Amino acid sequence: MSKVKSIEDLMKIKEKALKELQLRDTGKRGKITVAMGTCGIAAGAKETLRAIVEALAENNINDIAVVQSGCMGLCEVEPTIEVRLEGQEPVVYGHVTAENAKRIVKQHILGNQIVSDLLVRKGEM
Ligand code: FES
Repeated sequence: MSKVKSIEDLMKIKEKALKELQLRDTGKRGKITVAMGTCGIAAGAKETLRAIVEALAENNINDIAVVQSGCMGLCEVEPTIEVRLEGQEPVVYGHVTAENAKRIVKQHILGNQIVSDLLVRKGEM
């Protein structure tokens, strides 16, 4: 484990532990968060959300929670989603149209591979 060098490091560790704990509480393997801020919705986040729910159902995936959040502050790449799987670093994707959402479900959730052309950020903020 790396050394804690600052209060910020410590806060990050706490944040991460809390999020993993929350995940465990839901009894799910992971969580997809769809940013539903003003520009997310304007960019089609509702369709993204619908596509994710459909893709999970079509593939019989029941251990991934789907939730909404406020904006992630990423106007320029909306619609955005965060994929958080147990024991892995969270991944934020941008330009997640309905079609791209289905691709993420297949490749990342089922195949455990990051969809690199849509990747915005990896790791805790
Ligand atoms: S409303 Fe655009 S990033 Fe929040």
